Amino acid sequence: MTDSLQTTPTTELLTDDPTWWRQAAVYQIYPRSFADSNGDGIGDLPGITAKVPYLTALGVDAVWLSPFYPSALADGGYDVDDYRDVDPKIGTLAQFDEMITALHGAGIKVIVDLVPNHSSDRHVWFQEALAAPAGSPARARYIFRDGLGEDGELPPSDWTSIFGGPAWTRVADGQWYLHSFASEQPDWDWDNEEVRDDFLTTLRFWSDRGVDGFRVDVAHGLAKSLPEALPSKAELDALPKADGDHPVWDRDEVHEIYATWREVFDSYDPPRTAVAEAWVEPSRRARYASAEGLGQAFNFDLLEADFDATAFHDIITYNLKAADESGSSTTWVFSNHDVVRHPTRYGLPPLAGREIKQGAEWLLAGGDASEVDAERGLRRARAASLFMLGLPGSAYVYQGEELGLPEVGDIPESQRQDPAFFRNPGVDVGRDGCRVPLPWERTGESFGFGPGPAHLPQPTWFRDFSVEAEEGDPTSTLSLYRAALAARRELQTDETLTWEAVADTGAVAGAEPQVLHFSRPGGWHVVCNFGPTPVAMPTGEVLVASGPLGDAGEGPGNGADAVLPGETAVWLRA
Ligand code: BGC
Repeated sequence: MTDSLQTTPTTELLTDDPTWWRQAAVYQIYPRSFADSNGDGIGDLPGITAKVPYLTALGVDAVWLSPFYPSALADGGYDVDDYRDVDPKIGTLAQFDEMITALHGAGIKVIVDLVPNHSSDRHVWFQEALAAPAGSPARARYIFRDGLGEDGELPPSDWTSIFGGPAWTRVADGQWYLHSFASEQPDWDWDNEEVRDDFLTTLRFWSDRGVDGFRVDVAHGLAKSLPEALPSKAELDALPKADGDHPVWDRDEVHEIYATWREVFDSYDPPRTAVAEAWVEPSRRARYASAEGLGQAFNFDLLEADFDATAFHDIITYNLKAADESGSSTTWVFSNHDVVRHPTRYGLPPLAGREIKQGAEWLLAGGDASEVDAERGLRRARAASLFMLGLPGSAYVYQGEELGLPEVGDIPESQRQDPAFFRNPGVDVGRDGCRVPLPWERTGESFGFGPGPAHLPQPTWFRDFSVEAEEGDPTSTLSLYRAALAARRELQTDETLTWEAVADTGAVAGAEPQVLHFSRPGGWHVVCNFGPTPVAMPTGEVLVASGPLGDAGEGPGNGADAVLPGETAVWLRA
């Protein structure tokens, strides 16, 4: 089988190249957990600036910053008080400018997170809405409704929020407002012209400050069309989600909003970019990713898949084709601030269902580390990541992933912060375990995260995953990511992938081989053995390997009888 996929234009990673994003390696920074410069326990912008040499040595093309705006942190910053300022706990606008100058000086682009589905309940317009009467223009910026029952004492519908609990909260005069997430996150009404105009102002504000792109939070949620008589939760859940006519999610009109954003993006040189976080049917990603819209859309398919050759093959084939048809490039991601880190997911005992769910179940059951096969999880995570970094498209790396950092499963209830935990007791443990501040050093109160404590507890084993511990070790995960990201630069000039036959990598001992092999132009070959048993290695010079290679006899694993061990990936040049 040698079908070639994607032959889209050549990409040169020049600083002002408008297509820089197509194959960028993007490093996600969760600012409050990255690096703390002042010892208050919360990561900050000067902390990021101080780590620019680290990011340069890692070899990423861009960073995406999760929200750093003023916020009460009811949802880790995704509850925004003011879209055009910096949270004083995290820094100042002047420090933002310093950070962007330092990143740009190092050739690293900057993507910021935009949260347009909802503001925080402390936003000045929500405060105005609370102070204004029902039916007033101030209320019309949000989604207010009268309640049901004799005195309106019942919510307008029995809908639940994504984090659990009711999706409506009552205000002092008896009306209710809609919040798809926590009650501190009232949903905007995107039919409102002032709301639309204000977001255009925000896009220009950050673009004028030199931001290169935007990650658009809950991009499929903005346009809503709520009938006078609201359907029940059961009726709402039963409605089709892929016909563009669901009252809440993925409505076709949302693309009218993004067309106006596109005009703003394209008024800059180079145009600003955007990537949609849109949890929609795969077939409906194309409109978010179109050149008239946001330009690119996340595909979370690998993040949700088992570590399995067939699953990976089908996901990659589908997404490369779909992205090519929309004129975009796809994105690959295994970990982010919302999911259980992939070395842990891949180390959990197999249960029915998908790995991501296994992670959630394990957390719920107390996150007992002794249940995780940590060695296997890390081995698979390294293989999956090396394989993914060889793919065409944008590669997203979540902070700490480059250290092979596992999930922290056993955060005490008293120290948890995630609203998903508080709003859904016994059902969701939340996402704090992937947001624990990074270990930079082996020692110190917060393992070098800052001069003081860390805002979430770090386990003692964090020291073994610290940058200090991994930096000098050629076998560490950090060294693997650095080597792969350096080599990847050569791959970023073309977007073609050709699946290669795997017949010549027959199983060395037993079992059907679980191998995927693709080539990229320039004689590059990327091979991953997803199965547990070694297979024969295709010939070529080994450039990077996710783990130790073997030889049928003794030796460096590169001779005629070289083998690729189980759960290992390799880059070769033929
Ligand atoms: C973000 C989450 C956040 C939610 C509400 C998501 O998709 O990634 O972290 O809680 O949007 O803003």
